[in-house]
Amino acid sequence: MRFIILSALIAYLEYAGAQVTDEACDGIVINNVIHEQQVLKEIHAAYQLTIDYNTNTLFFSYSDDKSGSAYDSAYINLNTNESKIIKGINGGFASAVDEIQKVVYLGGKDGIYRFDYATKVATHIDGTNHNIWQMFFKKYLHYTTYPEEEVYIFKELQSSRVPELNSTKGLLIAVDNYDNIYFWNSTGLFVHNNADDQVTFVGDYDVNGFTSDSKGKVFFSTGDGLYYINDDTKKVETLALIGNGEVFGMAVEADGSIIYASLNSLIRLKPTNVNCYNNDNKNL
Ligand SMILES: *[C@@H]1O[C@H](CO)[C@@H](O)[C@H](O)[C@H]1NC(C)=O
Ligand SMILES: *[C@@H]1O[C@H](CO)[C@@H](O)[C@H](O)[C@H]1NC(C)=O
Ligand SMILES: *[C@@H]1O[C@H](CO)[C@@H](O)[C@H](O)[C@H]1NC(C)=O
Repeated sequence: MRFIILSALIAYLEYAGAQVTDEACDGIVINNVIHEQQVLKEIHAAYQLTIDYNTNTLFFSYSDDKSGSAYDSAYINLNTNESKIIKGINGGFASAVDEIQKVVYLGGKDGIYRFDYATKVATHIDGTNHNIWQMFFKKYLHYTTYPEEEVYIFKELQSSRVPELNSTKGLLIAVDNYDNIYFWNSTGLFVHNNADDQVTFVGDYDVNGFTSDSKGKVFFSTGDGLYYINDDTKKVETLALIGNGEVFGMAVEADGSIIYASLNSLIRLKPTNVNCYNNDNKNL
């Protein structure tokens, strides 16, 4: 009898213990630390997040139209939370920042624009008439076009195909600190290795946005989570799994904090002082 009670007690304690672990792991876990979600702005499905570290401003695009077809470029000042739709651009969708020259580039339906902080207006600066899908700045502005999925570089006010990618499709691109070009198309995630001029398959990820942090490390999001590229191994590491279809894009603040776009909001992930070592908890 005593034995039975004791086993029941142990079973109960084990059960209670497991519950406590699960509870402690409730939330988004990054590097074994639970993060809470701080809503910066309620906005429907923001895409293509880029931070200008000079001004601490986050640029993004979103669909204003109920049908979901028309896009606008907008920004939120991360110091003041002031937010505005950017005028002067036709179908603003993409953004990238030259932190050294202090130029904010925006991509619209008909080419490249430059944002002016004083007037909050974007001005058309090229004659390509390209329908720009995504932009990434590394030494020069890189961008992709839709529906062609061609990858271009913009130098001295002229656009030309990125030679390394002139025979492949790429809808989303990023360049790391070693001039390796990561690109995504509907087949998967690939990298053009600068050292040997070869393209290799990185993984079967449904990438929906690339970004880099202030040091140039490459991150990307898929519908369900946030990832980064390990520079040494060129392998993908999981930063956080958020939930099926819940992520539309991401950016990394100067202090390393993550901001991501959910279906309804721009969200900053703030570390709490709760640890979680239960690696089975993927919030999925
Ligand atoms: C901006 O929004 C965040 C999240 O709601 C809030 O914590 C912060 O205090 C706000 N900053 C300002 C300057 O209002
Ligand atoms: C692509 O670029 C390479 C140089 O990297 C060049 O030799 C080749 O002719 C280009 N092909 C096309 C189709 O432009
Ligand atoms: C995506 O890129 C890879 C590598 O260049 C290529 O083999 C594949 O055909 C591309 N996919 C599409 C749909 O073009």
